[in-house]
Amino acid sequence: MTGGGAAQEGAFVEPVRVAVVGAGYWGPNLVRNFSTCPATELQVVCDLDVERASRAVGRHSTVAVTGSLEEVLGDPAVEAVAVATPARTHAEVALAALDAGKHVMVEKPLASSVADGRKLVEAAAGRSLVLMCDHTYCYTPAVRKIRELVRGGELGEIQWVDSVRINLGLVQRDVDVLWDLAPHDLSILEFILPEGREPLAVAAHGADPIGAGRSCVGYLTVPLRGGAIAHAHVNWLSPTKIRTTVIGGSRRTLVWDDLSPSQRLSVYDRGVDLDGERLTGELRREAMVSYRTGDMTAPALHESEALQGAVTEFAGAIRERRAPLTDGEAGLRVLRMLEAASESLGWGGTLVPLGSWR
Ligand SMILES: NC(=O)c1ccc[n+]([C@@H]2O[C@H](COP(=O)([O-])OP(=O)(O)OC[C@H]3O[C@@H](n4cnc5c(N)ncnc54)[C@H](O)[C@@H]3O)[C@@H](O)[C@H]2O)c1
Repeated sequence: MTGGGAAQEGAFVEPVRVAVVGAGYWGPNLVRNFSTCPATELQVVCDLDVERASRAVGRHSTVAVTGSLEEVLGDPAVEAVAVATPARTHAEVALAALDAGKHVMVEKPLASSVADGRKLVEAAAGRSLVLMCDHTYCYTPAVRKIRELVRGGELGEIQWVDSVRINLGLVQRDVDVLWDLAPHDLSILEFILPEGREPLAVAAHGADPIGAGRSCVGYLTVPLRGGAIAHAHVNWLSPTKIRTTVIGGSRRTLVWDDLSPSQRLSVYDRGVDLDGERLTGELRREAMVSYRTGDMTAPALHESEALQGAVTEFAGAIRERRAPLTDGEAGLRVLRMLEAASESLGWGGTLVPLGSWR
């Protein structure tokens, strides 16, 4: 892989020189985080609308602004590019950046199709460049903790996952609610699930009760290997905001309420046991169900901005010449679920298989 000095403990590591492309709603958050991250140095902000780029850097900034992507890609001082343009343009902008030898971080979703996403993954691999997808939630302390608990076996065997992400959202012009909001739930799912619980298929249902021309309410059902199941509800039309994920395990159940900063995570030592665990067939079905009522604990979490974690991971992957936590392959797995969801919607909700997962 290209890039500067290796990251050795105690050694000075040169900050990664970054450009942000796209300074609309989300881009300014990247600008702020790249500006404050010690591992990065923001060189230039690019937007077709230069005024937006100027606003994003602020009046007193020394960071350059431009309306020309070619100018950014032709600048040898720029090592890496963060793409925050609309999803339909990700593939074109990111491929151009990879072709110019830049490491790339792309906003979610990685691209607008699996075929385009695969082009990006192949281009990055062919040039030994870092390709990262900004699955922002994976960098929250809550999701990092959930992954640790799930993969460490604290919850036992995962049996079900139920995710709700609803509020009065911006009705997007180019994508439905599944492509707008479900990348969050699906990227979290693919990030936390342990081996043996891979997604097998996707069924999607959607509705457009306001006549927007695309689904504004969406339900995704994802059967998981081993008899488990995940479900996500995403919705732009809800007057109340709910961001809750519940993960049921054979030992414990975890509740993540992202809108409750004082107690985002709760782990319940409560659940349902089937007496006669070792019985099979008819005998097992006849065994008695019993209910466990144990304690609830709330794991302590430090507060930190997810995007700061994401930009730090991007810089670390570049300097350490390794794949980032949410690499292009992770972006591709999310795209495969989204594409299967669109196919399922078109078929009235039938289950669309995903094929081999990794
Ligand atoms: N990670 C998150 O939580 C999160 C949240 C919101 C949005 N996003 C993602 O961020 C991306 C941008 O979303 P948004 O809501 O900011 O969109 P937006 O439409 O508000 O902004 C996009 C900007 O990109 C500029 N642009 C378009 N094509 C360009 C090009 N070729 N070169 C330079 N500039 C170009 C536009 O002028 C515009 O200013 C999307 O992929 C979206 O999914 C991520």
